[in-house]
Amino acid sequence: MENKITIEELKSKIADIKMQLVGDLGKNLANEKLRIKYLAKKGLFNDLAKIISKLENSNKKEAGQLLNELKIHLSDTIEKTDSNTSKKEWVDLTAPGIKPKTGHMHPVSQAMEEITQIFERIGFTRSRYPEVDWDWYVFESLNMPKNHPARDEWETFFVDAPIDKKMGKVVLTTHTSNGQVREMERLNSRAPIRMINIARCYRRQQDATHTQMFHQFEGLVIDKGINIQHLKGTLDYFAEQFYGPGTKSRIRPFHFQFTEPSLEVDFSCHICHGTGFLDDKTKKPEDKKTKCKFCKSGWHEVGGAGMVHPNVLKAGGFNPDIYTGFAFGWGVERTYTLKEGLNIDDIRLLYSGDLRFLEQF
Ligand code: FA5
Repeated sequence: MENKITIEELKSKIADIKMQLVGDLGKNLANEKLRIKYLAKKGLFNDLAKIISKLENSNKKEAGQLLNELKIHLSDTIEKTDSNTSKKEWVDLTAPGIKPKTGHMHPVSQAMEEITQIFERIGFTRSRYPEVDWDWYVFESLNMPKNHPARDEWETFFVDAPIDKKMGKVVLTTHTSNGQVREMERLNSRAPIRMINIARCYRRQQDATHTQMFHQFEGLVIDKGINIQHLKGTLDYFAEQFYGPGTKSRIRPFHFQFTEPSLEVDFSCHICHGTGFLDDKTKKPEDKKTKCKFCKSGWHEVGGAGMVHPNVLKAGGFNPDIYTGFAFGWGVERTYTLKEGLNIDDIRLLYSGDLRFLEQF
């Protein structure tokens, strides 16, 4: 008797199966899957039908009718979904495909790639040094002793880490010049050195031409007989390669602790071609009146340069009586936004994460 089931239990099992079907319809299961689950040989309906033998003989007739109704309900409902899903799954193999959305390199990465290639063509090797570094590499080895006022210009972020006796504090690198002595050490103070170091830098600055995180590219050349003409030649080469034929470089006296002499580097403006005026070139200078709004002076400043200071050569293990070198360090964002046709007057846009802006590059 314990195996027997009542007609009420059968009705409840039938209701369960109908509920399951409602659930599966909500999940949009393919009709083939529904048919296998409910109506196949080992499906839920046949499973249930087996229990007819466990009913009292007096209930078997009613049970037969109930099961019959269930089967009709299942096949009708599944058949209806048949026509619905087949409509949904219809595929036109001749229709043109949907192109997957592909991204592209960030404009600053594109600029770094281009800068690397330009310098590699004249024998420079790309290197990269820590962006969180010791005070020694960022300042002291670059002829900026502790508490030297020149350090103030570098509005530095300091890391709250233990201070090392020789290396000093840990800082977020304020410029890529930290790579200078590191590169000399990497090559065991052996010339020639032709390095291009591109990395992130950090300063406590924020306005249309300054961001707290930005990139610089640093050139360093050391060998016997290197002089300022080699530096000027390299600047002119870069100007033409990056900005196009006819672009010129200009150097002006400046001061950095780690170069002597020190220079600021400008490139001629591509809009007024270094004249500072938008008027026709054929006009006499006294007749030129419309100032170039992009540069105001004919030139754009991009960064610093100079001949490597003897104290820096010494810090990197070179004898300054035998070896000389030049170095330069410019902002990637600044250099890039001056390219013809870009017209980006606020470098913060580069880091806005706004696809409407970024997708234009
Ligand atoms: C330096 O950082 C020197 N290390 C450059 C140098 C290297 C001189 C080797 C001599 C020899 P300066 O602080 O001027 O110099 O920065 C160089 C360039 O970095 C700036 O002209 C600008 O283009 C870029 N730059 C500096 N600060 C920021 C900033 N907060 N946001 C974006 N770009 C910046």
